[in-house]
Amino acid sequence: MTHLNGDVAERAAAGFTDKYGGRATGRWAAPGRVNLIGEHTDYNDGFVLPFALPLRTVVAADRQDGDNWTVWSELSGETITFGADDVAEPGRVTGWGAYVAGVVWALREAGHQVPGARLAIASDVPLGSGLSSSAALESAVLAALLDLGGLELPAERRPRLAQRAENVYVGAPTGIMDQSAVIRCRAGHALFLDCRDESVEHIPFDLDAAGLAVLVIDSRAPHRHADGEYAARRQSCEAAAEALGVPALRDVAVDQLDAALTRLDDEVTRRRVRHVVTEDQRVLDTVALLRAGRVRDIGPLLTASHVSMRDDFEITVPEVDTAVEAALAAGALGARMTGGGFGGCVLALVKADQAEAVATAVKTAYAKQGFTTPGTLTVLPAPGATRLN
Ligand code: GLA
Repeated sequence: MTHLNGDVAERAAAGFTDKYGGRATGRWAAPGRVNLIGEHTDYNDGFVLPFALPLRTVVAADRQDGDNWTVWSELSGETITFGADDVAEPGRVTGWGAYVAGVVWALREAGHQVPGARLAIASDVPLGSGLSSSAALESAVLAALLDLGGLELPAERRPRLAQRAENVYVGAPTGIMDQSAVIRCRAGHALFLDCRDESVEHIPFDLDAAGLAVLVIDSRAPHRHADGEYAARRQSCEAAAEALGVPALRDVAVDQLDAALTRLDDEVTRRRVRHVVTEDQRVLDTVALLRAGRVRDIGPLLTASHVSMRDDFEITVPEVDTAVEAALAAGALGARMTGGGFGGCVLALVKADQAEAVATAVKTAYAKQGFTTPGTLTVLPAPGATRLN
């Protein structure tokens, strides 16, 4: 995975000084995430188990007068400005600036007096790799604006607000997982989130103690209609819940699944429902194993999740399937695509001393297929969003 030179927090601070002069009042960081298991369950009111990555987005910021926001991004090299009119209604700022303007809009809409601000953004979270670079950006900006304005919003209420920025201002119909992960995760733990009531349990995920590692493989697959396909999956799940007379697919018990499937007359919908219902159960089973300290034993659940995404939910692409197969063939205990699908990243649970061999095996398999060389990174669960100084 690409890393820009130097520490991301220093780059944000230096960018602030370069662009605006003086020193920022503070720096706020928010990480990317991977989802250990529980894919496309969040908008079905189900369960997810993400953890935060050591890759972060950092915002260095201070206040400025009036309803004016100036934002510099290291990645685009641009500085954008927007004012009250631009955040009066969703969609007026577009491109990457929409994630920043969306947070200002959502805060104002929730009744907060958002201070004007100058922001400088640097990030190590790769864009478009399914590691939640957008949730990291929203969450870091949210933390910065809240602190600069002396505004109170408890951590457990922040994800909904950041999600609203993305759903309504940016216009992407995503669930609550990414913002929750980015804001609420703890180092050394995965976040067991019930997406219906947003209750969480921090589940110890001590890879080191188990002699294991999680290898994240950036599939580098070109995005193929990911937005439209995501929205279509969501619609299909909502239509199925309605046909079954339940508030959400979370309400279909796994032991009632076969009976429920006979009540749906479309084969594709049946497969979508089977993925969601069995995936919720796999999250619960993974949590049970982790609670019992049986980290190694979660591998088959990860792989089963991948098979379900590939065959029933149909959101994988040849690159991610190749990465999963090659990782398993090279000795990974389990492997699956993580995130919304149609590209993005694969995670593989590996014995720590085999991480390199598995990464090499995936690269070799890619070369044979003529795919762009994937990026690889070994990660441990990192902390969620935080103020740095
Ligand atoms: C994307 C969305 C999440 C979630 C995942 C799939 O990351 O932003 O809300 O739906 O896809 O699990």
